[in-house]
Amino acid sequence: MNFIKVNLDERSYPIYFGSSILKDFGKTCKSFFKSKKVVVVTNPTVGRFYFKVINDSLQKEGFEVNRIDVPDGEEYKTLTWASKLFDKLIALKADRQTPLIALGGGVIGDLTGFVAATYLRGVPFVQVPTTLLAQVDSSVGGKTGVNHRKGKNLIGAFYQPKFVYIDVDTLKSLDKREMKAGLAEVIKYGVIKDARLFKYLEDNIEILTQNSKLRTQNSALLHIVKRSCAIKASVVEADEREGGLRAILNFGHTFGHAVEAVTKYKEYKHGEAVAVGMVYASELSYIAGVCSKSVVERVRNVIKKAGLPTEGPDFPRKSFLKAMEIDKKVVGGELRFVLVEKIGIVRIEKVKANDIMPENRL
Ligand code: NAD
Ligand code: GLY
Repeated sequence: MNFIKVNLDERSYPIYFGSSILKDFGKTCKSFFKSKKVVVVTNPTVGRFYFKVINDSLQKEGFEVNRIDVPDGEEYKTLTWASKLFDKLIALKADRQTPLIALGGGVIGDLTGFVAATYLRGVPFVQVPTTLLAQVDSSVGGKTGVNHRKGKNLIGAFYQPKFVYIDVDTLKSLDKREMKAGLAEVIKYGVIKDARLFKYLEDNIEILTQNSKLRTQNSALLHIVKRSCAIKASVVEADEREGGLRAILNFGHTFGHAVEAVTKYKEYKHGEAVAVGMVYASELSYIAGVCSKSVVERVRNVIKKAGLPTEGPDFPRKSFLKAMEIDKKVVGGELRFVLVEKIGIVRIEKVKANDIMPENRL
């Protein structure tokens, strides 16, 4: 099993990668934790596939395993559910040494991480991400949190896991639409930091969206997950709390969040909205004179090849701008965007409201 390290002084941690490694999870846990008790937080969908293997491997190492289920869905990433988890942890007599293990996608990871950051002022936690989005993005970097009725992820904490454990085999059971949504974030890493990864995606993205058996047999998957995590790790190492550079990870996200908001979070998966957002952000970069037209075309084409949308819904500019205002990326009332210069190189700039899509399309 190989790993890369996220270097953050005393908060440094490894990200382990492999195929069919869940059965060894207990051994890795044993090397990190002295506690006898562990708590696995999951949902019924993921638990049905992967709880048994995790449970068996933890028990084999002598852990007392407790399971807490959260219903499946973004609508449960709330303070109400965080509070229910606190109640359950208190009932289980979980103490400061008891690790919480987040087994699931980004929803389970964000919620469990937030609970771990705040229960008893902080208990250890581990990310076992099972969606592509969670493997390449949400499980790495320590952003944890819950949604508020006024906006997504408005309440949260930066809190790093003790380790991240990625078994790409779990993606076998993931549906194709979720897989593609995760690929949007991989494309993002290519645009912001890695022209070689971007080229690799241009050449291989169709393999990655094929049926699940082929997908996981293919080394392409392990390659893109590792490369994405390495890029995310390098950005987080340089700017853990998003004082500056980390904001480049939001490429396409300001538009993407607006697309999600105006469609009331019902039509687009996050990754699909980000795909549309990356096309708009590239177009905006061209309009602002920052990149050439061919950059916009390459971004649009690879997104199309991945089977992701390149167009958002029709909606008035006013509602679009309003949706952006609530976004946490608005600083002091100014709209700041991550603009692409060349594939692999981006910069953050203030942008005039008049230049903003969707009316202003190429
Ligand atoms: P998700 O957690 O809702 O998972 C998507 C669906 O896939 C769910 O129905 C889930 O039960 C199911 N699922 C998960 N793993 C599966 C598997 N292996 N097989 C079959 N089904 C499986 O969604 P997501 O896309 O993983 O994450 C979205 C969340 O992540 C959002 O709340 C978003 O805000 C958050 N996020 C956080 C960060 C961060 O840095 N913390 C970054 C990006 C996104
Ligand atoms: N997903 C954006 C970040 O982690 O900063």
